[in-house]
Amino acid sequence: MIKKLALSALMALTLGSAPALAAGDGGHIHDYAFSFEGPFGTYDRAQLQRGLQVYTEVCSACHGLELVAFRTLSQETGLGLDDDTMRAYAATFEVEDNGDYRPAGGPDHFPGSSLENAPDLSLMAKARAGFHGPYGLGINQLIHGMGGAEYIASFLMGFNGDESEQGGALFYYNEAFGGYVAMNPVLFEDLVEYSDGTRATEEQMAQDVAAFLMWAAEPRQTERKMWGFVGVIFLTLLASLLYLTNKRLWAPIKDEAKRG
Ligand code: HEC
Repeated sequence: MIKKLALSALMALTLGSAPALAAGDGGHIHDYAFSFEGPFGTYDRAQLQRGLQVYTEVCSACHGLELVAFRTLSQETGLGLDDDTMRAYAATFEVEDNGDYRPAGGPDHFPGSSLENAPDLSLMAKARAGFHGPYGLGINQLIHGMGGAEYIASFLMGFNGDESEQGGALFYYNEAFGGYVAMNPVLFEDLVEYSDGTRATEEQMAQDVAAFLMWAAEPRQTERKMWGFVGVIFLTLLASLLYLTNKRLWAPIKDEAKRG
């Protein structure tokens, strides 16, 4: 009986984790250099704006960003769109309001995914911070400063052309994922036209949209780093004051002890 139970538990475990295992053989992630890396790194505003363009023109056909409010696009440390541009952008989307449809405004959120099996990308850059499977321990982030943005850029660049048909659907081999995925390669040279004159190579678009998705998942990263730094300075000051106070408080007693 116990043996049987243990066996079925084991089966449930292995079956339950089968997709994760299939994806878990650790694909290749390229170490892209992003402006927001390191303790003082900040987002590159122009890059985030280009990333929004790629997301809008390419990814949003399938993927949603339902946790991101349009008004955050005008945040100073992020894309920094002026209010009119932000509102005009929001108004290109429609939201349901009391059974009616109206153009979206600042407080509204991006729509969710329109393709059922395409995951929402709001938190993707954080969800993949540790990549997949055995590499998902955060070791790469700690040692190489690599995380979700590198994963997303590598994922977009990771299609090697290998396809496989399973149950009537096509799957595409992705080297970053380390297995077959249901998403087809979407980026190719000059797919979008950047207004700032940047060449829209495949790699450029991959990095721009990855940076944008990092911002979407962590819009307050710059502030967090700044307050972290302020905290360190404050604690250093406090520690030195306490050290001096302590020395002073005990000085008479120490003197007495020395005099015997
Ligand atoms: C034609 C629809 C379609 C388009 C366009 C599309 N995707 Fe996907 N994407 C999918 C589907 C479907 C999946 C789920 C794949 C799977 O899990 O097998 C997916 C999965 C992903 C994943 C998750 C990979 C993982 O590790 O699980 C990321 C990241 C991603 N897409 C990013 C993007 C970005 C960025 C763009 C725009 C440059 C984009 N996608 C455009 C359909 C699409």
